[in-house]
Amino acid sequence: MNLFIDSASVTDIKEIISIFPVDGVTTNPSLISKENPASSLKLLGDIREILSDQQLLFAQVIHDDYDKLIEQAYQLVNSLGDNTVIKIPVTPNGLKAIQHLYNENYKTLATAVFTAQQTHWAAKAGATYVAPYVNRIDHHGGDGVQVVKNSLAILGNYGYNCQVLAASFKNSKQIFDCTLAGSHALTASPDLLKHSYAHLSSGTSAVQFQRDWEDTFGDMELK
Ligand code: E4P
Repeated sequence: MNLFIDSASVTDIKEIISIFPVDGVTTNPSLISKENPASSLKLLGDIREILSDQQLLFAQVIHDDYDKLIEQAYQLVNSLGDNTVIKIPVTPNGLKAIQHLYNENYKTLATAVFTAQQTHWAAKAGATYVAPYVNRIDHHGGDGVQVVKNSLAILGNYGYNCQVLAASFKNSKQIFDCTLAGSHALTASPDLLKHSYAHLSSGTSAVQFQRDWEDTFGDMELK
């Protein structure tokens, strides 16, 4: 499974990369606005610099006007390089843009996916990834994990060359359920990633091991 950090904070991304085996970073206009940078392209460039060539950076278009949307997609890739995935919301113009960009060999992620039917049309249009918004679906009374499962089934049934990148998580159970469902990838905030790995008993077990060692050997060196 590919794992991404959902953040536009250089500090947080650096910290997570130093701990977790991540495959890149997903951003969106809200996350970038939260950082309040003088230039969004400069901030995205700074994030690009802390990633390796193998790690992907996902950057989203702002416009929904078709021509502007295509122009912004080109601008993002020209500024950030080939290992950029253009995030495009699944509006009608978004779907049209995904087809256009697919024909020009750009990588796209169809974002703000709320139904498996949206997954299907985005995959057929040539999206490289689709991002079901698990928690937002749950929040509206739906079943986010089921949308991920249905999306995986549709992609499998028709053999689309498109991956499910589950997104919008608010708790570790949602992450675990999508992992069990076989999601190809997921993205989560730095805090949630840390939380999904933490367990109080792991910490207390490690401390007990150290105490036992120190009681016997007097210090913490191997001897
Ligand atoms: C995914 O690509 C989005 O950036 C993100 O996961 C949306 O999450 P939110 O619902 O927490 O804003």
